[in-house]
Amino acid sequence: MNSMAADAWATRGGAVKWPELSEGLLRLRPATADDAESWHAIRSHAGPWQSPLQSVAAARELLLAMAAEPPFTPGWRQFLLLEGADIVGDIGLNWPAYGDYAEIGFELAPAARGRGLAQRAVRLLGSWLLDSAGLLGVVAITHTDNKAARAVLLEAGLLPCADSGLAARFDLQPHERLHLMARPADA
Ligand SMILES: CC(C)(COP(=O)(O)OP(=O)(O)OC[C@H]1O[C@@H](n2cnc3c(N)ncnc32)[C@H](O)[C@@H]1OP(=O)(O)O)[C@@H](O)C(=O)NCCC(=O)NCCS
Repeated sequence: MNSMAADAWATRGGAVKWPELSEGLLRLRPATADDAESWHAIRSHAGPWQSPLQSVAAARELLLAMAAEPPFTPGWRQFLLLEGADIVGDIGLNWPAYGDYAEIGFELAPAARGRGLAQRAVRLLGSWLLDSAGLLGVVAITHTDNKAARAVLLEAGLLPCADSGLAARFDLQPHERLHLMARPADA
């Protein structure tokens, strides 16, 4: 464990596995190797904003490697976003990427876009990370040209913060911008 948050989680006698989160019909659950095909399909429509998965087999290998890691050890984990029974998107979580800050990345299947689902999913996971998992903040890195992702992050309550002290922890390119959802100081 490399962070205060992880220690806090352990001493709280917290969960032994990644949670499933839901709000109305929307559900976030940890991805398993059986989700490789869905994950690969969604990622193949992410355009230039996410690195593509080479194949379904490569996606499965990655999911198996993630599942082999004990929960709450540092590294990327994948969650799938469902609306009812339909898989509509995914959120990647880098736990905890930078001290007590997690990083997230997300995408929706094209048919699920334009209805605010990503914003709700980011809020859902972000609230759990801050309120239940004890992290101090959630960060996401987007290209300034990625208008939809920037709008999603701002609407979900993340603040643009390229100039914050956190930025120094990233190798930020001039065209990238860091967004931050932070626990209020008095929380
Ligand atoms: C980012 C993504 C998840 C957003 O999906 P979504 O939640 O359905 O978002 P929307 O399509 O409703 O767009 C969100 C907002 O951005 C606006 N928007 C979308 N595309 C835009 C564009 N090209 N220019 C300006 N505004 C744009 C929408 O009008 C909307 O604004 P509103 O909430 O005021 O109506 C989806 O576009 C996607 O999967 N993109 C590919 C992967 C990706 O970029 N992931 C993020 C990596 S950090």
